[in-house]
Amino acid sequence: MDEDRRMLPAADVPRDGTVLVTLRPVGDVETGTGDQGGDGEELEAMLIELADGIACYRNYCQHWTDVRIDRGNGATVRNGEIVCEKHGAYFASDTGVCSFGPCEGSVLDAIDVAVRDGHVVLADPDYAFERLGPTERPDAAGGSRIDFTGS
Ligand code: FES
Repeated sequence: MDEDRRMLPAADVPRDGTVLVTLRPVGDVETGTGDQGGDGEELEAMLIELADGIACYRNYCQHWTDVRIDRGNGATVRNGEIVCEKHGAYFASDTGVCSFGPCEGSVLDAIDVAVRDGHVVLADPDYAFERLGPTERPDAAGGSRIDFTGS
């Protein structure tokens, strides 16, 4: 695994919150929702510790795709579910499936990561790791509003 795909020590990823990383799409990434990551622009992903590893999801809600779930200081996590504070959608930390809320049944956009030698590494070939923390874009979650139903 390339050194530049190492993101952070696995021990720094919380279970009761999330931590942001900035990525850049390098493959044929389906942006599809909002303009996050469009044209190779940076995008945010949030990491959360699971019982058996680390999960990584792009940082936008499936209800309103221009809404960041982690606003820069960690998402709210309750009983193993990531909460979008905007309208109270709950997403299972391990699967990304929305179990409750206006976008129930939708799924967060997952990015493959792995833990190697105590570090979280980006395993998804469609993305490059830029840095820890949020993007520098004010509209980091995306630009247009497309909801779960596509309307
Ligand atoms: S924007 Fe996330 S629940 Fe509505």
